[in-house]
Amino acid sequence: MNADKRTPSVLITGATDGLGKAAALLLAERGYRVFAAGRSAAKRAQLDALAREKKLPLETLEMDVCDDASVKAGVSSVLAKAGTIDVLINNAGLVYAGAVEDLRMEDWRRQFETNLFGAIRVTQAVLPHMRERRKGRILMMSSVSGFVTPPTQGAYSASKHAIEAVANALRYELYPYGIETILIEPGYIVTNIQQTALELAKSYQEEFQSGPYAKIYATYWSNATSTRAQSKTTPEDCARIMLEAIEAPRPKARYGVTPLATFAKWAKRLLSDRAADRMIRGRYGIARQA
Ligand SMILES: NC(=O)c1ccc[n+]([C@@H]2O[C@H](COP(=O)([O-])OP(=O)(O)OC[C@H]3O[C@@H](n4cnc5c(N)ncnc54)[C@H](OP(=O)(O)O)[C@@H]3O)[C@@H](O)[C@H]2O)c1
Repeated sequence: MNADKRTPSVLITGATDGLGKAAALLLAERGYRVFAAGRSAAKRAQLDALAREKKLPLETLEMDVCDDASVKAGVSSVLAKAGTIDVLINNAGLVYAGAVEDLRMEDWRRQFETNLFGAIRVTQAVLPHMRERRKGRILMMSSVSGFVTPPTQGAYSASKHAIEAVANALRYELYPYGIETILIEPGYIVTNIQQTALELAKSYQEEFQSGPYAKIYATYWSNATSTRAQSKTTPEDCARIMLEAIEAPRPKARYGVTPLATFAKWAKRLLSDRAADRMIRGRYGIARQA
């Protein structure tokens, strides 16, 4: 995507771990100037050390996507150093698992604050610059949960459905300015996301063990852990798809990652709601109570 001679620069949120980190390393290896944003000073120091060791054009910066001042300062510092942001990858995200009835309102808000408002906040900070240059790409990290919602995933999935809607709007709004908005839709990939979900769910132990949705929770936690563990798709595979989305002359609106993403996309198109519901109920052992 580099028409001029300058090295294209990439800002990635949540880039000190998991899928964001894999993308940061791959893009730096391919010659992009990478700004890897993260909250944790320790993780940033580790990634900086790795970049130095591998002599990669990668530096980290502090950014909490939930904090206006942190986002503004982070974006300004990238612009001051690189002059441009050619690619923004809105990757930071986490999972609050819980039945719609159980999840406390503050956790619904936290879920949206990170996965949705965080991505919007960073996008708003970067867009005036991209519009002025009439150039840029924005990758939005969605998920299979952006178009399918299993039980206990109402909040996470709602945040990813919302990010799909935002990306859809941006594709039209930014068309005149030559800026592409692209959704990345992974299925299960082993990262820290599940461990973080377990930690965020600690205060719900009572609901998990003896609440009205206990059986569904038990299936969810064991499915999520075992299916994720079986997934053969790596963060590096996901990073390669992101690279493809960044370099495609005419990028697609959305890129699936993992066989589950392909299966879910086709199942969604081909199955009736009734048939899809039956399949998910079967997977979770959900039956009417006598
Ligand atoms: N792994 C999967 O199976 C999968 C599937 C579909 C979609 N996704 C999506 O992919 C993205 C990355 O997930 P992952 O699997 O790589 O998880 P991960 O390993 O847990 O990494 C998530 C990253 O987001 C960061 N983050 C969380 N809250 C943040 C905040 N307020 N400000 C800045 N950074 C924040 C984390 O930073 P800290 O280290 O500081 O917490 C971490 O670096 C997420 O949007 C997730 O929803 C993942």
